[in-house]
Amino acid sequence: MRNLIERPRRNRRSEGVRELVRENRLHASDLILPVFFHEDDEDTPIASMPGCTRWSLSGLIKEAREAFELGIRGIVLFPKIEEQLKSPDCAECYAQDGLVPRAIRMLKEELPELLVFTDVALDPYNTDGHDGLVVRNGQGQLEILNDETVAILQKQALCHARAGADVVAPSDMMDGRIEAIRETLDQDGHHSVGICSYTAKYASAFYGPFRGALDSAPKEGDKKTYQMDPGNIREALRELALDEAEGADMVMVKPAGPYLDVIKAVRESTTLPVAAYQVSGEYLMIQAATEGGWLDRKAIVQESLLGIKRAGADIILTYFAKEVAAWLRGS
Ligand code: PBG
Repeated sequence: MRNLIERPRRNRRSEGVRELVRENRLHASDLILPVFFHEDDEDTPIASMPGCTRWSLSGLIKEAREAFELGIRGIVLFPKIEEQLKSPDCAECYAQDGLVPRAIRMLKEELPELLVFTDVALDPYNTDGHDGLVVRNGQGQLEILNDETVAILQKQALCHARAGADVVAPSDMMDGRIEAIRETLDQDGHHSVGICSYTAKYASAFYGPFRGALDSAPKEGDKKTYQMDPGNIREALRELALDEAEGADMVMVKPAGPYLDVIKAVRESTTLPVAAYQVSGEYLMIQAATEGGWLDRKAIVQESLLGIKRAGADIILTYFAKEVAAWLRGS
C-alpha cells in the first residue's frame, strides 16, 4: 500500500460519511408544484404530458392538499380557458369571477398556509395564443405590443392579488412589467403580495407539451420577439438587473436543465432567491425514458433536480414535486 496523503475516497466510504459531507440535498420545501385545471367537473389526463392531469376545481383542491401534506409549500396555477372566453383583448384574464380567482379563493379557504403562485401572462386567454396583445404591422407581420400588454398584466395581477394570491409570477417577458405590477399592487394595498419574475425565460422548444396541456400554442409566429434567445447568457444578467431594480422578490430561470449555466450566473449575481423551472419538455423526456424502464425513474428524477440545485436554484418548479416529496418521506 502506498501512503497517499490525499485519498478523497475516504469521504465516500460509507453512507454515513457520504451523508455527512453531502453539499446539496433536495427538500420537499424547495419544490413548487405546477397544476393544470379547467372548468369541467372531470379530472382529465393530459395527452401531451402523460402522468399529468387537468383537474376540476374539486380535483385541484384534493391535489393541492396532498402536495401540502407531503411538505410542499407552494403551487402555481395554470388554467385552461374555454375557447369562447378567449378574445384578442384578453379581458377574461382580469374577470374577478374567472376560473383563476375562484380557484385562489377556494384554495386559500381550504389550505390557508399553502402558498398560491399565479402565472401572469395573456396566452391562455388570447385568441392568438401569444403572451401579449397582437397587432399586424404595415408589412403584414405580427407584432406583440409591449406597453399596452403591461397595462393588462397589471389588471391581471391585481385580480389575482384581490382573490388572495400570495405571489404573482409574470411569465410574459414584456419590458417594464415588474415595476408596473408592483406599483399597481401597492396602490391597492397589496404590499405583501410578492412578485416572482420569470427573469430569464428562453424561447424554448421545451414548452411544447405545456402548450398542448392548455391548448395555448401561438396560432401564428413564435415567441422569439419577447422570450430570450437560447444562445444568450449576458442578456440574462441584464434582465436580472432590471428585475431587481423594479422590485422583484424572487427571480426565475426557465427552462432549468439545459440552462444550468444561467442559473449559476444568476445565483452569483443576486442576493434574491433564485427559482428554476423544470419545464414540460424536461418532464416529458424523463417520463418517456422511465416509462418503459429504460432509465431508473427515482434516481433520474432526483439527479436531474439535484443538478438544478447544485447550479444554485433555491426553489424548483417541477411536475415531479409530489413524487419526489413522497420519496423523500421514504414512501
Ligand atoms: C405561459 C407559460 C409557459 C410556460 C409557463 N408559463 C409557456 C410559454 O411561454 O409558451 C411553460 C411551462 C412548461 O413548459 O412547463 N406564459
